[in-house]
Amino acid sequence: MHNTDYKKLSSENSELIKKDKFIHSYMTMFQTVHFQYINDLCNSTCIIDKEGLKIGRQYVMFFNEKELMYKHASLLLQDNDSKDLLEIGYGLGIFSQAACSIGVKSQTIIEIHPWLVERAKIWRDSLKEPNKVFIINNAWQKSLESLGKYDAIMYDACSPSGYSHYDFEYLIEILCSEKLKAGGLLSFWNSGVRIPPIKEHILKNNFKTIHKYKYKMISIPKHWVQKTNCFIIPIAVK
Ligand SMILES: C[S@@+](CC[C@H](N)C(=O)[O-])C[C@H]1O[C@@H](n2cnc3c(N)ncnc32)[C@H](O)[C@@H]1O
Repeated sequence: MHNTDYKKLSSENSELIKKDKFIHSYMTMFQTVHFQYINDLCNSTCIIDKEGLKIGRQYVMFFNEKELMYKHASLLLQDNDSKDLLEIGYGLGIFSQAACSIGVKSQTIIEIHPWLVERAKIWRDSLKEPNKVFIINNAWQKSLESLGKYDAIMYDACSPSGYSHYDFEYLIEILCSEKLKAGGLLSFWNSGVRIPPIKEHILKNNFKTIHKYKYKMISIPKHWVQKTNCFIIPIAVK
């Protein structure tokens, strides 16, 4: 074998070892921190009221975010119906409906809460083409083996307090690296006028381009707890 082939092989191997170590340490954290979080989440009652969706005592989604979700969908799907879409976190199903109204080749939804999964199934069964929609009832972190390859991914799930950057790193380094097609697009819910520097750094290491669209929510819900009503809608191109 030529010398450069050995070099290439050993650098590929060290990348694989790095990736394995990362998966291992993330999954250890998942078993300890997320296990309890997900357990609590799934055992909490969901309430949908005039303002939005509460899981337990906390609002996780507001109806006033409808326009925001429609903008995410429009930018992510580029207003055409040719994409295989993966959506992480069903919530009120606003993004799902937005995507469906634009049109998709297929739409896979991952949702952990059983009550919301049932709502997602009822919604799917009401569609003209229910066969295009696939629903996975699991944590997204544990769903990799059930997934195909996607043209577009929308990430809008919750993390245990203080762990959103770890989850984001796993999302990008593992899920998007394996399941988002080359040239595919990623978007995610991002409150504030910029993407947090750690997330931006992770994105820059893994994506060719990051487009950022500004959005301001005009009507603020009574129970809104974010510091701002401004958003960035990120569209990262792999
Ligand atoms: C903010 S809501 C999503 C709102 C949605 N984009 C919409 O348009 O209505 C977040 C959702 O992610 C789900 N979720 C949280 N952690 C999850 C996980 N690890 N895996 C899958 N779903 C998760 C929650 O149950 C909740 O339904």
